[in-house]
This record gives sequence, structure tokens and C-alpha cells, in this order.
Amino acid sequence: VRERAVEALTRLVRDIEDFPEPGIVFKDITPLLADPAGFGAVVEAMAAAGRDENGAVVVDKVVGMEARGFILAAPVALALGVGFAPVRKAGKLPHDTHQVDYALEYGEAVLELHRDAVAPGERVLLVDDVLATGGTAGATCDLVRRCGADPVGFAVLMELGFLDGRAALGEVPVHALQRI
Ligand code: PRP
Repeated sequence: VRERAVEALTRLVRDIEDFPEPGIVFKDITPLLADPAGFGAVVEAMAAAGRDENGAVVVDKVVGMEARGFILAAPVALALGVGFAPVRKAGKLPHDTHQVDYALEYGEAVLELHRDAVAPGERVLLVDDVLATGGTAGATCDLVRRCGADPVGFAVLMELGFLDGRAALGEVPVHALQRI
């Protein structure tokens, strides 16, 4: 499964230079999403982060981060048979939220999670497409903890190793299909 997923990633994610700003190489996953076999393979491989070595599901919920994280996290949650909760940028969630500030390359932003989206004591798997500086993933761990729940893993398609985003996750294990 993992081999098929890595092959699909290598073949179907394209680099877009100078997007959204000069000097940035954007990882465009839309060709991967358009390929049902490739998309299915990466979802299955990411879902393995929520199982033990015998295949038993060991998480209670999957949290995905706006926006591309949603696309991956929702099918991962269904594959594991657990619920999904969205982490969104400020002002998008309608009910009571926890909020965490996180650093962007320039300035700051706010992420939110509904207070009742995860229950105290739940084991939560985080899912996103790219781990870059780790700001998004670190803030999401904080949000999950603010609900009294436990972030137990972070599944991601691609880790940009040179940015050391892993450091923002502390003890939370990172399951990256590809490290660039
Ligand atoms: C991208 C990506 C991750 C995050 C990684 O999302 O999908 O969520 O950046 O970067 P970091 O590790 O430096 O925090 P983006 O903020 O572009 O949001 P979008 O998916 O809504 O476009």
C-alpha cells in the first residue's frame, strides 16, 4: 500500500514554481486527487497511521486542517470508521471555538476548532497535505489539547524536511509518505 502511495505521489503531484509568491515552489496535489487509484492509495496509506501493527484502529477521531487537509482527512476518517472534525481559519466555524495564534512566514494567523469537536480523552489523528514550518500542525495540536484530547499522530503526504516543521510537533509522531 505504502509503495503504491509513494509511487502515486511521485507521479501525480506537480511542482508549481513561484506560487503563490516568487521563490516558493507549490506542491499541487490536484492531479493526484483526479486519479482515483492514486487518491485511494494515499488515503489508505495515511489511514495506517491510525492503526496498530495488527490493523486495529487506535484513534477516536481525525482532525483535518483547512483547506487541503479536509480533502484527505475526511476519507481517512471514513476508512478508519471514526468521525472527522475541521480546523478552520478564524471566523469560519459557527459554534463555540478554541482559538490558537500561529506564526506565518510574515505575521500571524488564527486557527479554530469547535470546543465540542473532540471529547476529553479522545485520541486524535491529525491529517494534512504538507508539513512545512509546522505552524499549522503545532497550532492544531494545541487546539486538540485545549479540548482535553490527545494528539497521537500526524499523517501528511509530504514533509519539507529542510524546514524542520517536525520540531513544532514535539513528541507527536509524524507519519510522512514522502520527505523532500
Ligand atoms: C498549507 C498546507 C498546510 C500548511 C503547511 O496550507 O496545506 O496546511 O500550509 O504549512 P506550515 O507547516 O508552514 O504551517 P495553507 O496555509 O496554504 O492553507 P490552504 O490549504 O487553505 O490554502
